[in-house]
Amino acid sequence: MPQAYRSALYTVMERAVRKAGKQLVRDFGEVEHLQVSVKGPSDFVSTADHASERTLKAELEKARPGYSFLMEESGSTRGTDRDHVWIVDPLDGTTNFLHGIPHFAISVALEHKGELLAGMIYNPAVDELYWAEKGKGAYLNDRRLRVSGRRDLGESLIGTGIPFRGRGTEEDHKHYLKLLGATMARTAGLRRPGAAALDLAYVAAGRFDGFFEIGLNKWDIAAGILMVREAGGFVGDMDGAADPMQTGNLVTGNAKLFDPLRGFLRELGGSGKSA
Ligand code: IPD
Ligand code: CA
Ligand code: CA
Repeated sequence: MPQAYRSALYTVMERAVRKAGKQLVRDFGEVEHLQVSVKGPSDFVSTADHASERTLKAELEKARPGYSFLMEESGSTRGTDRDHVWIVDPLDGTTNFLHGIPHFAISVALEHKGELLAGMIYNPAVDELYWAEKGKGAYLNDRRLRVSGRRDLGESLIGTGIPFRGRGTEEDHKHYLKLLGATMARTAGLRRPGAAALDLAYVAAGRFDGFFEIGLNKWDIAAGILMVREAGGFVGDMDGAADPMQTGNLVTGNAKLFDPLRGFLRELGGSGKSA
């Protein structure tokens, strides 16, 4: 989209994510040196994560005073305007960041009375800026995005997020292994890149044909849900008609594969959490 057509809201969000992104890239360079230290780099990463959040909050607040916030690190902050809420993950893909893998992002969405108006997902390590506005489409930098056109689950590349120590019970992990086993046998490949916001951006960009994950948070998915929808894809709850923003159990895909993928996962018990 030519620069002239970009909205004031785009400019506000871009300024915030680029500023926080610059800091993250600087810190990412440091993290690589810290890998060898005995204590490890995790305290440092947590400091970088909080610093990114502070920058995003300050920039967004300055441009839109009074808007409310839902941020991963500082939680909910009610502004004088309760209808507008910025939903922010200051560093998605923390484990990658910690291990020196340049696949992480900042995710910022703006919600108005529960409706997603705009979303931005920025991977500063490769300078990929994904953005979408309600009714105006989804973009990667200057390029308009469309979900993939694949029709056959057997040819599809599916992204997912695998639970880890401390995330879910032993039962949850067993159920997840069942979903993984069945999906790998039915598709052309499964990927676990490690940043849910980017997984959704990849579906919007047609790199992935679909994606599913259990137990996500609003800040992981708010921007990505709008991105996929504006790119012509579908997003839903793994079990029923609920809003995946509320349940966090999300499945998404292009227009042709969304139903087959969701149906297939449901036959296996969906998230494993429905009654
Ligand atoms: C995590 C990443 C990961 C997903 C986890 C998230 P964080 O976010 O998005 O891909 O599998 O569920 O919690 O902790 O890196 O912001
Ligand atoms: Ca996250
Ligand atoms: Ca995070």
